[in-house]
Amino acid sequence: MEYVLLGNNPEIQKIRRMIKTLSKTVFHVLIVGETGTGKEVVARLLHASSPRKKGKFVKVNCAALPLTLLESELFGYEKGAFTGAVSFKPGKFEIASDGVIFLDEIGDMPPLLQAKLLQVVQSGEFARLGSTRDIKVNTWIIAATNHNLKEDMKHGLFREDLYYRLSMITIEIPPLRERKEDIPLLTDYFIKKHQGTLKLKGEFQLDAELRNLFQAYHWPGNVRELSSIILRLMAGDEPEGVKEEIIRNMKADEVEWPEGIIAVPEEVVKAPKEIQGEEVSIKPLMELRAEALREIEHRVIRYALEASGWNKRKASRMLKISYKTLFYKMEELGIEKNRPKETLHSNTQI
Ligand SMILES: Nc1ncnc2c1ncn2[C@@H]1O[C@H](COP(=O)(O)OP(=O)(O)OP(=O)(O)O)[C@@H](O)[C@H]1O
Ligand SMILES: [Mg+2]
Repeated sequence: MEYVLLGNNPEIQKIRRMIKTLSKTVFHVLIVGETGTGKEVVARLLHASSPRKKGKFVKVNCAALPLTLLESELFGYEKGAFTGAVSFKPGKFEIASDGVIFLDEIGDMPPLLQAKLLQVVQSGEFARLGSTRDIKVNTWIIAATNHNLKEDMKHGLFREDLYYRLSMITIEIPPLRERKEDIPLLTDYFIKKHQGTLKLKGEFQLDAELRNLFQAYHWPGNVRELSSIILRLMAGDEPEGVKEEIIRNMKADEVEWPEGIIAVPEEVVKAPKEIQGEEVSIKPLMELRAEALREIEHRVIRYALEASGWNKRKASRMLKISYKTLFYKMEELGIEKNRPKETLHSNTQI
C-alpha cells in the first residue's frame, strides 16, 4: 500500500521535512494528533524513508489488548511461562529488531507495561516472559497517541520518565479544521483514489454545494472522515442526505456555519432545536459517560481498599495501577485517605 502525506499547509510541509531528517537518525519519535489526522501515515513514511525499510514495520495497538496479552505480545514468552504457553513465541520487539515498532495509542498502555517499555527505551534490552535472560534488540520505536500525555502525566496515568524519553522528538499533526486550505487538494486526491478502488468508469463530479460545505465543516474525524464521506458519495449515497448529516453534526457540536453557504432545508435546521425543547431534556452523552466512569471507579477503588484492609500498596496492585495513581484517584474521587471507622467491619460489595 502506498502512503502519502499530502498538503501545502506549512505545518504539513514541516512534517514532511522532519520525516526526511528523522529517518536518518536513531531517535525514538512520538506522533501526536487527533483521530484520523494521519499519524499512521507519518509512521509508515518514517519507516519507508529510512535505511530500516528493509526491516519490518510492526504495528501494535496498545489499547486493543488487556495487560497480560499485551505484555506477551510485545515481549514474547518462553515455553511454559504460563498455562497455555506450549511453545516459545517471540515478541513484537524482537520481530521488529532492525525495523520499526509502531506503538499505536501509547496513551492507553497500562502503567505496569510502561515501566517495562522504559527499560527497553533506555537499554534496548528486556526479558521474555518466563525468562531471566535479557535480549538485546535494535528496534526503532515510533509511538502515537491522540491523548494529551502531559495531562495524563499530571493525573499519574502516564509515566513522566517514559514521556520525556519518548517525546524528545515529537511530531504534532494539526487537525484538518486548522488546515482547511488543504481540503480541496485532499478531496481531489480521494476522488481519484476511490475511483480506482470502486473501479468506477467516467469522471465523478462532486456537488458544488458539498464542496463549499466541506470548507465550513469542522471535521471531527479529520482526514479519515473526509475520505469516507467521499467514498460514500461515490458509492451512491445521496448528496442531499450527506449535506443534512454534516449540518446536523455542526449544529450538534455548536459550530458556526456561514448563513447562505447552501440552501438548508427547514426541517434540518429545526431538528436540533426540537431536541433542546423543554419537554425532552437530554444530558450530553460525554457528561453521562464521565459520571458513570466516576461512579464505577469510586466503587471499585473502595472495594479494593476494603479487600486489602486499606493497604494502599496492595490495593493498587489489585487494581493494576501505580501507588501514585491510586493516591491521585482517591483524592479526585473524594475517598478518605484512611479506613473510615464505620466501615471497619462492613463487607463492601461492588
Ligand atoms: N495528509 C494526508 N494525505 C493523504 N492521505 C492522508 C493524509 N492524512 C491522512 N490520510 C489518510 O487518512 C486516513 C487516516 O489516516 P491515519 O490512519 O494515518 O490516521 P491516524 O491519525 O492514525 O488515526 P487514528 O488515531 O484514528 O488511528 C488514512 O486512509 C490515510 O491514508
Ligand atoms: Mg492510527
